[in-house]
Amino acid sequence: MKIFENQQLIEFNTFKVPALCDRLIQVESEGEIPQLLQGGFFDAPYLILGGGSNMLFVADFHGSVIQMLTRGISVIEESEESVCLEVAAGETWESFVDFCAKNHYYGVENLIGIPGLVGSCPVQNIGAYGVEVKDVISSVSGWRISTKNNFEVANKDCKFGYRSSIFKTDWKNDVIITRVRFQLSKKEHFTLTYQGLMKEIENQNVTLNIENIAAAVKRIRDAKLPDITKIGCAGSFFKNPIVDNFVKDKLLQQIPQLVYYPVDGGKSKLAAGQLIDLAGMKGVREGDAGIYPFQALVIVNYGHASGCEIRAFYQKVQLKVYEKFGISIEPEVNIIG
Ligand code: EPU
Repeated sequence: MKIFENQQLIEFNTFKVPALCDRLIQVESEGEIPQLLQGGFFDAPYLILGGGSNMLFVADFHGSVIQMLTRGISVIEESEESVCLEVAAGETWESFVDFCAKNHYYGVENLIGIPGLVGSCPVQNIGAYGVEVKDVISSVSGWRISTKNNFEVANKDCKFGYRSSIFKTDWKNDVIITRVRFQLSKKEHFTLTYQGLMKEIENQNVTLNIENIAAAVKRIRDAKLPDITKIGCAGSFFKNPIVDNFVKDKLLQQIPQLVYYPVDGGKSKLAAGQLIDLAGMKGVREGDAGIYPFQALVIVNYGHASGCEIRAFYQKVQLKVYEKFGISIEPEVNIIG
């Protein structure tokens, strides 16, 4: 393992905001974790960092930041129909999706282009274009920090929900995820429920196959979302709010074109992007913080915005939406500090 004291984190978060941490610990093999757990590193504040693509530092972090650098994709079980892959937490999501597309393992092609590491994907149950990662995860392994024991939780016990899981709720800040197992289909199988995806494939007039679907998702993403290698951001900044149906019905009177999706328990999920857009905030910029002009859910750092400036800006966006529609929108991104 490598330990760096007083480390600058600007290169370790995709918002590209400056923040120092007392100590950065890079874990290079899973075998180092027991040593880390026994070594007192978790007695002071700590933060488990994935790709840094879902966090906003609003202050320096006085404690240890732990980063998993383990890599590797192994085939655990294979039949004619399906394959079970075990992937190390530090593998990038991008390289995993590429591996699956190349080998014609079906199930994650709609999730191409999502930044971050494999170890982070179960935490907020990443999702896009009709697929959530819970649809293909079979189990998640790692270590509990409080008990210093290792665990393997099966999908059904991960308490997956919209952008949520046990790792973000009951076990929040109490796990180091080391490996994720995925069950993928080897038989051609696509999810084309997201309207724009089928339309994009039809427009291109191409055969329906895994490469073309991945390419279509990529084009849709590129048209709406910034390239995080060029512009600071963390993907969708806000979660889509889930409200009672009577709230949705009331809002429909104010916004006839309201976008909503029914969810369990007499509730509806609204599109935060649409509400921000209709509140007049799309494309608005204050200093170096702003809403991306092509997707209102995304907050960007155009250059040198600090975490505090971005926080002040997103709170203004929340207030505008609340004043206009009476709906509270909450960050999907973790605010650190
Ligand atoms: N909309 C607007 N204006 C906007 C943005 C969206 O009116 O500026 C409307 C769209 O017209 C559409 C609706 O809102 O009718 C929903 O928009 P979209 O399909 O683009 O999806 P989203 O709800 O904005 C979610 C995920 C994205 C994911 C897309 C596609 C969340 C928080 N975000 O966005 O995830 O890529 O669906 O499946 O659930 C991410 O989490 O980082 C992310 C990018």
